[in-house]
Amino acid sequence: MKRADRLLNTPPYPFARWARHLEAARQRGLDVIRLDIGDPDMPPPDAVIDALCRSARQPEHHGYPGYRGLPALREAIAGYYERRFGVALDPDSEVVPLIGSKEGIVNMALACLDPGDLVLVPDPGYAPYTRGAVLAGARVHMLPLVGERDFLPDLYTIPADVADRAALMWLNYPNNPTGATADLPFLAGAVDFARRHSILLCHDAPYCDVTYDGYVAPSLLQVPGASEVAVEFNSLSKTFNMAGWRVGMAVGNAEALASLAQVKSNVDSGLFRPLQEAAVQALSAEPGWMQARNAVYRERLEMAVKGLTAAGLEASLPRAALYVWAQIPPGTDSETFALTLLEQTGVSLAPGSFFGPAGEGYVRLSVTAPTPRVREAMDRLGRFAG
Ligand SMILES: Cc1ncc(COP(=O)(O)O)c(C=O)c1O
Repeated sequence: MKRADRLLNTPPYPFARWARHLEAARQRGLDVIRLDIGDPDMPPPDAVIDALCRSARQPEHHGYPGYRGLPALREAIAGYYERRFGVALDPDSEVVPLIGSKEGIVNMALACLDPGDLVLVPDPGYAPYTRGAVLAGARVHMLPLVGERDFLPDLYTIPADVADRAALMWLNYPNNPTGATADLPFLAGAVDFARRHSILLCHDAPYCDVTYDGYVAPSLLQVPGASEVAVEFNSLSKTFNMAGWRVGMAVGNAEALASLAQVKSNVDSGLFRPLQEAAVQALSAEPGWMQARNAVYRERLEMAVKGLTAAGLEASLPRAALYVWAQIPPGTDSETFALTLLEQTGVSLAPGSFFGPAGEGYVRLSVTAPTPRVREAMDRLGRFAG
């Protein structure tokens, strides 16, 4: 059977490989506690589930849903951006609903990159930024994120010829996997950089409402003029505990979004209508729901940081996102460390190397397991460290 050459440069998704280790551990009788992926364990608001069920009972809601998304969904997304960030969006030209933001991230690469184009990608970072570029035949220039710079890329050290050749740059704050945050002045610098070098700036912000201790994450589109050069990706997966529902959005630059919509109309047929109506309901959820949910994550994060630190890893509390990015003791690589931990205790953390070469030396712990399981995992980690 012929296999496309482009797959030669697209290795299997690292978590798909990790799934085999998890299966082996379970087969050996281990009680596996998965703290390796950011898959929310709590449900969405009840009203969202009710909206889905109500809509699904309508006999006329089961056909092809239309490529652009319901006007009501595009208006609800624009309404959310207005209320949450004070950003005004035209629901017709500046909003594209997505089948999860991962879909949009990869399709955006197909929409705006040609073979040989250059893409700037944070390292460590969410794998689809690189995978999308590779599937489009583009080349990747890594932007290292290091602790000494609070995991923000140093845009001034990007060689001028690289910046001038780049077609697209990815940023992601609040950040996966490091939990780092970026303030508006940093984002304004990135917009300025993108403008000077004619780069499409794509900011991925699915954790903007998973925040702690009063921190409020900005949108890139709050930077004046940002939508002249930028698109922001967002998602209901983490904001409303709806990862399995696959609802995301791309907002901002109308020209880039028209290209994305053109790819999508050739590839998918839009979101199931009841999902769109449930998403409209979610986007109008009252802030109290989010605060209560975030308080649960905050308690787990504190538990995790204490447990990791007691076990000899270096870790601190993030202001946002679902992750503790912990430095492992020297003398081993992150995949060996995580695999040994899994095989000896059943606790599964993500090796930092899964997120890029600069992730080596770290593991990522996600607090998306029930609180008693996080506590149990930290007890096991303590015994592992001896
Ligand atoms: C940084 C980042 N972007 C995008 C996504 C994908 O979200 P979605 O469920 O909307 O595809 C994730 C999921 O973990 C993520 O961490």
